[in-house]
Amino acid sequence: MAEQQSDKKSPDVTSSEYQGTATMEKITSLAKRRGFVFQSSEIYGGQSGAWDYGPLGIELKNRIAGSWWKEMTQLQDDIVGLDSAILMHPRTWEASGHVENFTDPLVDCKKCKARFRSDMIPEADLAAKKCPECGGELTDIRKFNLMFKTQIGAAEDTASIIYLRPETAQGIYVNYKNIIQSNRMKIPFGIAQIGKAFRNEIVTKNFIFRTCEFEQMEMQFFVKPGTDDEWFDEWKKRRWAYYEKLGVKMDHLRWHQHGPDELAHYAKDAYDIQYLFPMGWRELEGIHNRTDYDLGRHTQYSGKDMQYIDQDNNNERYIPYIVETSAGLTRNVLMILCDSYDEEQVADKGNEDDWRTVLRFHPNLAPITVAVLPLMKKDGLAEMAQDIRRELKEDFATDYDQAGAIGRRYRRQDEAGTPFCITVDYQSKEDGTVTLRYRDSMEQVRVPKAELAAKLREEIKNYQRAK
Ligand code: GAP
Repeated sequence: MAEQQSDKKSPDVTSSEYQGTATMEKITSLAKRRGFVFQSSEIYGGQSGAWDYGPLGIELKNRIAGSWWKEMTQLQDDIVGLDSAILMHPRTWEASGHVENFTDPLVDCKKCKARFRSDMIPEADLAAKKCPECGGELTDIRKFNLMFKTQIGAAEDTASIIYLRPETAQGIYVNYKNIIQSNRMKIPFGIAQIGKAFRNEIVTKNFIFRTCEFEQMEMQFFVKPGTDDEWFDEWKKRRWAYYEKLGVKMDHLRWHQHGPDELAHYAKDAYDIQYLFPMGWRELEGIHNRTDYDLGRHTQYSGKDMQYIDQDNNNERYIPYIVETSAGLTRNVLMILCDSYDEEQVADKGNEDDWRTVLRFHPNLAPITVAVLPLMKKDGLAEMAQDIRRELKEDFATDYDQAGAIGRRYRRQDEAGTPFCITVDYQSKEDGTVTLRYRDSMEQVRVPKAELAAKLREEIKNYQRAK
């Protein structure tokens, strides 16, 4: 299917096109050190293809999801949300074509038992059936279905086989008539959903880029046949504009149209938005014209009429076409980490070192918006700082840190991507002002305590990325 094929034969190294300071090693190590992402089941040696989101990671993931949700529901007049179950009737996946078509070509080494996707082996090795790792003999290519299969209920017979969903989209299709009826939706309209998806990926590498358990943010837009090309172009525009609004480096984004050998079995046309990750250009999101394929197949397999009845147009009946926008949430987390990562030589006095690692998150995405730091623990400064934090925490994600030299504390917040630090010092006790320090410029200004919340709100609203 589309996603698997788009980065075949891609080496797991820093691409020559990538000019930034991030590498996958640095991102992975920072993510662990600062509690963004940990390897799953690490004490048992780790579970490949699965990752745990730590305190900063879950905040970042939630904010990315929140920003997508706002964009795709609150700001759209004609899109509603859904949260459908991961477990669906197994016929769903026969109808969707996943049982038959959702496969990767697989080969095994008879000697070292390593397993490869055949399209990721150098052509000469594949032709000679030679293992690229030990030189042993490779098996013939066979189709390997990426869906995780398990059993439901106590009986271990075939009737109880059930799949973990490999995409969230099907939960939307099977509910589309319920939503038309319950919410009086009229075509054109959309349904948005964020949720987990599972794929038994043969190759999982590059940290959280391709995993077996991941999250998707998908929106299915139902349109009248014949208007689908127009809506497809419209959704391409809207999704591009979304990343611009998010403050992503736009020269790190590009379009990739699927060629005939890349198109998924359901797609008439498909474009990926690719991002320039340290390892090169990779798919971030797909926009697909899925035609009436899915609803047509569900009609056939369920025996239910999936036609739309256009009551404003002489009860005209048709199976809608679907334009899908499908983004990886966990892949967006990786994109935002890479996009924000910076190393900078700094010359601000009072700091022990002159290099800093900084995550330049948009304040709307930053896990911590503002950190409150007393210059000293003594002389009532800590109490005053705690009072300020208490006042701010109703409206902002806050942190409090009184441990170590102030320069070190700024560095810790820079690495966590905190856009604002408030420092309480001796002058604060005298005149009620505090220092507001900007992460990006490291500039510091004095602000009266009472004006802090308004000042922060204004700064967040007017935030412009400097680099
Ligand atoms: N419903 C259509 C669909 O699932 P896809 O291109 O296979 O299309 C959509 O996947 C998005 O989901 C991708 O652009 C990617 O961001 C994300 N994705 C797919 N497989 C993934 C994996 N194994 N790990 C992390 N994200 C993945």
